[in-house]
Amino acid sequence: MSKPRVFVTRIIPDRGLRKVLEQTDATVWEDELPPPRSVLLEWASQADGLLTLLTDKIDAELMDAAPKLKVVANFAVGFDNFDVPAATQRGILMTNTPGVLTDTTADLAFALLMACARRIVEGRDYARNGHWRTWGPMLLMGQDIHGATLGIAGIGRIGLAMARRAVGFGMRILYHDAMRSEVAEKELGAIRVNKEELLTQSDFVSLHVPLTPETRHYIDAAALKMMKPNAILINTARGPVVDTMALYEALKARQIFAAGLDVTDPEPLPADHPLYTLDNALIVPHIASASFETRSKMAEMAADNLLAGLAGKLPPNCLNPEAFNKS
Ligand code: DGY
Repeated sequence: MSKPRVFVTRIIPDRGLRKVLEQTDATVWEDELPPPRSVLLEWASQADGLLTLLTDKIDAELMDAAPKLKVVANFAVGFDNFDVPAATQRGILMTNTPGVLTDTTADLAFALLMACARRIVEGRDYARNGHWRTWGPMLLMGQDIHGATLGIAGIGRIGLAMARRAVGFGMRILYHDAMRSEVAEKELGAIRVNKEELLTQSDFVSLHVPLTPETRHYIDAAALKMMKPNAILINTARGPVVDTMALYEALKARQIFAAGLDVTDPEPLPADHPLYTLDNALIVPHIASASFETRSKMAEMAADNLLAGLAGKLPPNCLNPEAFNKS
């Protein structure tokens, strides 16, 4: 029996890629940049399965061009690149990689929080560029982390992991979420508040909401105006959750203290974007899950999801199990 045809849209860590190469007839897109739309459509048209990244848009147009497609496995926990209802309608399974990147992502969110508060990158540049001539009583003063209030928008897996880190720093924890989290409240002492309370009371606001029509521009000019002048905004969720130009204006006017961004809108942020000109904007290139171990686990999980779907089984991390009976 011939092996299923698969298109893998980028080289992923070997722990997952090896399984896919052994068990399927796979083509791997080896470029650093994502396959152009026309290439993705062309390969999808012959594929039984796709292993995709968050940069690959999997929508109704693509699915209609892919008559054999059974399963699409995202190498990410976020899946705003997927049209899940369209896939369900067509009996195509869609999967993601939840859980394995929770702590690694929260580690980076907390690292950004600390780096912004204590102006680590500014200090590195100051020393490196020869400005360090003496110990300065007023030099590069930042914000205290211990004892400060952390506001978490979205208390899902990653938001909760962020709260756990904050406990170690003796922080007061607020959260805003449609759902109450007993774990956050009982184990970590977090207090559920509305959005306005979160923004007006927090010294740090960390975003952990998925990107949906409701969360697009969750942080806009009005939200930024509510934040304290010492506040620091951390975004490791998705770029469009923040209105980029409103953030630029707020940082430039020192309306808030700083922002640490792992994700941006647009993404990638072009090299000539004005945000890069601000010392109080710390921007890294969407690397929150980028540890060797976590990326290997994500690769393995995506491969297992893909292979299960191709074998006619319900993948372990299926986003639309309703599609299973139709497939
Ligand atoms: C995800 O998985 O959604 C992250 O943004 C990348 O790891």
